[in-house]
Amino acid sequence: MTAGVGTVIDAVYVVAVLAFILGLKAMSSPETARRGIAYAGAAMLAAVVATFFSPGLSNFALIALGVIVGGGIGWYWARVVKMTAMPQMVAVFNGMGGGAAAAIAGVVLLSSLSNPADAGLSVAGAVIGSISIAGSVVAFLKLQGWMRQRPIVYPARQPINLTVLGVGVAFGVYAVVRVDTLFLLPFFVLLLVYGVLLTLPIGGADMPVVISLFNALTGIAVALDGFALVNGPLGDAGYAMVIAGVLVGAAGSLLTILMARAMNRSIGNVVFGAFGAVEETGVTMQGSMKPIEPDDAAVLMAYANQVIIAPGYGMAVAQAQQKVKELADLLEAKGVAVKFAIHPVAGRMPGHMNVLLAEAGISYDKLFDRDEINPEFATTDVVLVIGANDVVNPAARRVGSPLQGMPILDVDQAKNVLVIKRGQGKGFAGIENDLFYKENCRMLYGDAQQVVGKLVQALKRS
Ligand code: TAP
Repeated sequence: MTAGVGTVIDAVYVVAVLAFILGLKAMSSPETARRGIAYAGAAMLAAVVATFFSPGLSNFALIALGVIVGGGIGWYWARVVKMTAMPQMVAVFNGMGGGAAAAIAGVVLLSSLSNPADAGLSVAGAVIGSISIAGSVVAFLKLQGWMRQRPIVYPARQPINLTVLGVGVAFGVYAVVRVDTLFLLPFFVLLLVYGVLLTLPIGGADMPVVISLFNALTGIAVALDGFALVNGPLGDAGYAMVIAGVLVGAAGSLLTILMARAMNRSIGNVVFGAFGAVEETGVTMQGSMKPIEPDDAAVLMAYANQVIIAPGYGMAVAQAQQKVKELADLLEAKGVAVKFAIHPVAGRMPGHMNVLLAEAGISYDKLFDRDEINPEFATTDVVLVIGANDVVNPAARRVGSPLQGMPILDVDQAKNVLVIKRGQGKGFAGIENDLFYKENCRMLYGDAQQVVGKLVQALKRS
């Protein structure tokens, strides 16, 4: 390679890394998130194209085929995916990253097993990447409903899992020490098995946190691979991988911590706690759930000074966001102030409610996070809860409840609470909700899209 070409490739990598950082920054706000995705996508494309000009690269046709097939599937899937199926798509895409990192580590191990530094880094990259792809596949199957969503637990699972991990890693270390590729096969197989075993006891609704964790792990695996590649023929691409991997690792770790914190749980509890395997028992609710007709609920809202809408997972399932926008517009036309209360873990993925409401054209200045809106509930006439359960469950204030300590939306303090849900279904935590039995609460039973549609019709008539 002439020095000139090498300099241009390096320059492209530097610009790509800067664009990754700017893209990440832009993704921190819903208003600029699209721009952030465009920056990061363009940066990745530029880095891939630049790598094609690297001197040590061969097998162009095979690589191009991989890019076309993989890129084509990714492009098509991302275009047709439903909003509610987004978490499982992210799980698969993320798993592919982990798999690629494990595969790169495998290639380095096969070619440079005698170099202890590169081999050591690759063993570490292979461990993390293999766990990430196997775990992500289980996460996909659970979220897609092709596998039991509740935690799958078995006796002595922690010692069994630890043994599988320990023996697997030992095979990898032994392969490096003995410089014998034969041990790489059981090494990879056992780590893939560990990825599956680690993820089986995790409940479907905890998966977003786990996917975010696997995403962070994938970043770390890619960074480790990058270090191992730096000494090889694609050295500069190795540096780019280190930086991109560290960025993904850091961002994924922060997101994981934030999600776990918003649920008031430790990451250890999410990953090893088999949360949701046992349902809460021995708690009896006082009072009864009292239904209300949509016409009466519409009148209550039409005469309110302020209505706060608290959406949750059920709104996403019902895809009710367009109807919700119609409802908010009608109420505002009648002089009612309308605000949206957004809990950080409402739904099943970070920013789930923000994305759905933005898609329906509801402006960001109407969305308020928990800390901003909580002081307003006590002076609000009507709160309309749409398919939310855990994030409005006052059981979080009860000592011994599985939700104990989770910061919630204090909707029970409003003068009137209207709750849209289909029936007696529990939230993801699997526990009863005290709110539904309170004196100030009325139930609007049915699918969220249909019920909000009925409220819209009733408001139009009034
Ligand atoms: P959930 O507690 O899951 O409750 C959703 C409620 O929606 C259910 O009680 C269900 O009752 C109702 N519902 C389902 N389909 C519906 C439909 N078509 N129409 C109307 N209602 C419907 O939801 P949430 O309050 O949003 O809480 C989210 C939970 O997920 C939290 O526990 C959170 O910790 C967890 N979680 C969230 C995340 C992220 S990042 N968002 C990550 C991991 C875990 P019916 O069956 O009676 O209708």
